[in-house]
Amino acid sequence: MSKRIAVFISGRGSNFKAILDEINQGNINGKIDVVVSDNPGAYGLLYALKNNIKYVIYIKGKEESRANYFNRIKLFLHKRDIDLIVLAGFGKILSVNFVQHYENKILNIHPALLPSFPGEDAQQQALKRGVKYSGCTVHFVDEGVDTGPIVLQTPVPVHDNDTVEELSNRILIQEHVIYPRAVRYFCDDKLLIKGGKVIII
Ligand code: GRF
Repeated sequence: MSKRIAVFISGRGSNFKAILDEINQGNINGKIDVVVSDNPGAYGLLYALKNNIKYVIYIKGKEESRANYFNRIKLFLHKRDIDLIVLAGFGKILSVNFVQHYENKILNIHPALLPSFPGEDAQQQALKRGVKYSGCTVHFVDEGVDTGPIVLQTPVPVHDNDTVEELSNRILIQEHVIYPRAVRYFCDDKLLIKGGKVIII
């Protein structure tokens, strides 16, 4: 059965678009049911508009707890029977309750080779540390930040005089390759999580 996917974005949405393109070409056994954004100005919302995909904006109240914010989103998603949540440049850390509710059903992409350089500014961290290779990682989301079981990774070289932008662009090209692939594997029930590791069957 085709999987029902919710994509969470905050900005540019290029990974969302890469996945959408693969779905539109019939290469993924899934359908984007809804796009959730915490930013009404997210450029990526245009792809939802163009493709007639429903989108919703959830703004976090100034005093609102993370738990409450994600509870509201959870209640909304509940009726929609979502099989997979794809975090595609979503700027907020999920609540523990939300992660547990969708255990092993949330994917994220991170612009470094985890477990190196988790959290924010991963490309800058890599440049600062002077690594010769960085890359990108698709992983399942657990209660930690960028700590969940790793699905796919691709290395990219880091050049001596790279700027953050140059390295980010080199990594992004690979993100657009592995994220749709990981979503395809998920939708084909090919991802098995065993002892904190992902086996692709
Ligand atoms: C990507 O670099 C991704 O690795 C990180 O956020 C960025 C999102 O870019 N999680 P986009 O919105 O998909 O273009």
